[in-house]
Amino acid sequence: MAWLEAASVPAFERLMRELEAHGAPASLRNAARRAARDEVRHARTITALAEEAGARVPQVRVAPFEERSLEAIATENAVEGCVRETFGAAVAAVQAKRASHRGLRAAMRRIARDEAQHAQLSWAVADWIDAKLDAGARKRVRRMRERAAVELLREVSVDPSAIARRDLGLPSAAEARAMVLSLRVSLA
Ligand SMILES: [Fe+2]
Ligand SMILES: [Fe+2]
Repeated sequence: MAWLEAASVPAFERLMRELEAHGAPASLRNAARRAARDEVRHARTITALAEEAGARVPQVRVAPFEERSLEAIATENAVEGCVRETFGAAVAAVQAKRASHRGLRAAMRRIARDEAQHAQLSWAVADWIDAKLDAGARKRVRRMRERAAVELLREVSVDPSAIARRDLGLPSAAEARAMVLSLRVSLA
């Protein structure tokens, strides 16, 4: 979790620069900047908890940014944002209620709220980019988004360990599946 949070920082920084380069409205650019700041905070909080539990968090390495097409940005936003952040926000909300580890439960309350906003940002970015893509590109992005949901469904089909379910408050495979399925319905 700590690694994923840390990896989200450069992802939002990149999005922020790309939004700027493509002339996106200030509301989107500012939301991306806020999201990058949120992720710095999440990474710090979760890293502290992980280290307290004796884990070592691997460092995030990022390749230098290269310019991408709008379709490439839209595809990543659809997969990582519209599907994964939306699902992640829902999982965080479950953890905020269920984690037996008090420190984590408190951290997840804040994180769940932020992640819901990040998911919202993905949907706003998707709307903005969609209008700029031609019909073919829009269709390809939508197909990748659908594929990401199917892939996610596969990933959540294994039950987390009993300890992870109790201490971290993670949903069971059946619950996670139901969450992804309902996400797919709203995607459609
Ligand atoms: Fe986060
Ligand atoms: Fe996030």
